[in-house]
Amino acid sequence: MATVEISNLKKSYGAVPVMHGVDVPILDGEFVILVGPSGCGKSTLLRMIAGLESITSGEIVIDGRRVNDLEPKDRDIAMVFQNYALYPQMTVAQNMGFALELAGRSKADIKAEVDKAADILSLTPLLDRKPAQLSGGQRQRVAMGRAIVRHPKVFLFDEPLSNLDAKLRVKMRAEIKALHQRLKSTIVYVTHDQIEAMTMADKIVVMNAGRVEQIGSPLELYDRPDNLFVATFMGSPAMNILPAKANRMGITVAGLLELPGLANVMVGTEISYGIRPEDIVIGGEGAVPVEVLVIEPTGAETHITARLAGEEITIVSKERLSAKPGETLMVSLASPRSHVFETATGRRI
Ligand SMILES: Nc1ncnc2c1ncn2[C@@H]1O[C@H](COP(=O)(O)OP(=O)(O)OP(=O)(O)O)[C@@H](O)[C@H]1O
Ligand SMILES: [Mg+2]
Repeated sequence: MATVEISNLKKSYGAVPVMHGVDVPILDGEFVILVGPSGCGKSTLLRMIAGLESITSGEIVIDGRRVNDLEPKDRDIAMVFQNYALYPQMTVAQNMGFALELAGRSKADIKAEVDKAADILSLTPLLDRKPAQLSGGQRQRVAMGRAIVRHPKVFLFDEPLSNLDAKLRVKMRAEIKALHQRLKSTIVYVTHDQIEAMTMADKIVVMNAGRVEQIGSPLELYDRPDNLFVATFMGSPAMNILPAKANRMGITVAGLLELPGLANVMVGTEISYGIRPEDIVIGGEGAVPVEVLVIEPTGAETHITARLAGEEITIVSKERLSAKPGETLMVSLASPRSHVFETATGRRI
């Protein structure tokens, strides 16, 4: 187990900078998830922690030791990739023990470690099989087993579940979370999956174009995004953002809805008013009319796309609604859980 301190980390490929000074503090035993759009630098950051990619400037400190110039094998880190590439000719047990064999550990020692990891991962009955005789989820568990037997200080995962089908992902998600609780290891984990990030992380790092936009617990990011990027990136369906303007009493949203509040903002300032689809209430006080465009019942809830004064909005309701496209629905957009951003800077007000 270990802490990881990432300070002012920069990376350029040739003359092209792709990371512009990233700071991420990681506590001992913490499960940290990196999210962000494709190409924002998540894999590059993981690979720099692992030592597979050089550091242009800045510092990575693992367990109090600066590792910038350490070889990957000396960093005491295990990385599990999306394409975990097991050795096809080796059995599960041989795949899992291979790194220990390379490290020159005794046969008895290797067997003990492999048996222990197999037990944790429910792989014991499969130890003599070849990878081709395993399901996708079982193969993914073998890849994790290879990492576990080494007792690394830090586990790095780069989208380890993205090759699995939806049902298996949910199962593996729970397994990885249980594994973390059991091993109490420090984990840095990259995913594209919002639900994975929200349900597994102690701390989420939202990255964008080689920078960190915000770091916080899943609910901190969801309930109090620092800026428009995080507000619209976290959450699915995404937060509605409506144009608004500051006036003397508060703000006018989409030219028709007057909401009170907002201290210290100059009259006339362009505002982005954010409200999550589930925070829009159907009916309610001060409701305004919207035109229903699309209705999607998912079973558990109803998703509605509607038009409000030229803006498209998404509403998620727990109710089963019978409204049809073209009809008018009255909705309340004034929520205590709404968000207000300055449009020019994108910053939360
Ligand atoms: N070897 C390389 N040479 C040049 N540029 C690279 C190299 N590897 C990555 N990049 C660039 O660095 C940036 C970050 O890439 P990275 O793979 O870290 O993104 P990512 O966040 O992991 O994206 P994805 O979600 O698609 O996996 C991208 O703009 C990418 O094009
Ligand atoms: Mg990547």
